[in-house]
Amino acid sequence: MNRQKIVITRKIPESYVNDLKKQFEVVMWSSEDQPVTREYLLNEVKDASAILSMLTDTIDRELLSQGSELKVVANMAVGYDNIDVQAARDLGITVCNTPDILSDTTADLAFALMMATARRIVEAAEMVKQGKWLSWSPYFLAGYEIHHKTIGIVGMGKIGEAIAKRATGFDMNILYYNRSRKPDAEQRLGAVYADLDTLLQESDFIVCMIPLTAQTKGLFGEKEFKKMKRTAIFINAARGAVVDESALIAALEAGEIAGAGLDVFEKEPIDANHPLLQFPNVVALPHIGSATHETRSAMIALCCENITRVLRGERPKTEVKS
Ligand code: DGY
Repeated sequence: MNRQKIVITRKIPESYVNDLKKQFEVVMWSSEDQPVTREYLLNEVKDASAILSMLTDTIDRELLSQGSELKVVANMAVGYDNIDVQAARDLGITVCNTPDILSDTTADLAFALMMATARRIVEAAEMVKQGKWLSWSPYFLAGYEIHHKTIGIVGMGKIGEAIAKRATGFDMNILYYNRSRKPDAEQRLGAVYADLDTLLQESDFIVCMIPLTAQTKGLFGEKEFKKMKRTAIFINAARGAVVDESALIAALEAGEIAGAGLDVFEKEPIDANHPLLQFPNVVALPHIGSATHETRSAMIALCCENITRVLRGERPKTEVKS
C-alpha cells in the first residue's frame, strides 16, 4: 500500500522529518528562508494527504481542491488567515493551528516592543553605535513611562491575557476590548472591559492582538487613530491588515499619536523604503512574535503531531473550529 504523503512548505530540522518518515512519505521545500512557490505547492498537493504550512502560504480553495486525498492542513501559526477555512470545511479537510504554546512568547515580544517604542531603545542603541552620544543631558532621548499607565488590549485571547499579566507587574491599569467579555481575566488580572472608543480614548498604550478576519480588516483607520491620545503609543503584534497603514502614516505625520511599534505589516516583508519605516518613533520588527528556539520547535512538533493523528484517523490536538 502507498504511504500517505506529507508536504512541508519550508525546510524544518531533519529530526522532525525523520520521525514523520517512519510512517509517511515526506516531501519538503528546500529553503529555510524563501517561501514555497505556488507552482511547487499546486503540483505536490495533488497526491498529498497532509500539508504542514507556514503563515506565508496562501492555502485557498483552488489549492485545496487540487488535493483529492488531502485530509489535513497544519499551519505553523496560531493565526490562520492564510487558509480558506470554509473551503477546507466544504472539502472535508481538517485545519489545525498552534495555539497556547506561543502565547507567553508572543506576549513577551509585544511587551518588549511596547517598552522599546516608549523608551526609544532602538534609536538610543543606534546612537551609541554610531558615536552620536555626545553627553548626558536633561531630556536626551526622553521617552514615555510605562508603569502606572493605562494599557488597552484589543483582542483578549490567550496572548492578550498574557500581555495583561505582564502589565500587572508594571502596575498598569488594564482595559480590554474583545468580542466577548472575559470575566476570568477581569477577576484574575483586574482587567476592565471597555468599548473600543473608550479604550482608544483612555489608553496610553493600545496593543492590538486581534486576529485578522473579514470583520477586523482595517479595524484601525483614520477615525480610530484620531480618537487616541496624542501621547499614545500603538502596538501591533497581530496581523498587518487589521491596520489601515495609510491612516497610521497620516496619524504619525500629524502627530496624532506619539509612536508605533509594529511586528506585522500589510505586506511582508515590508519594503525598506516604505514610508512607515522613515519615522524615528516607529519601531519595526520582522514578524518575530513567536520566534524563540523553544517556541518554534514546539510549534513544529505540534504540527507534526496534529498531522500524524489525523492521518492515523485520530482527532488532532488543536483543530481550528471557527
Ligand atoms: C502566529 O502564530 O500567528 C504568529 O503570528 C507567528 O509568529
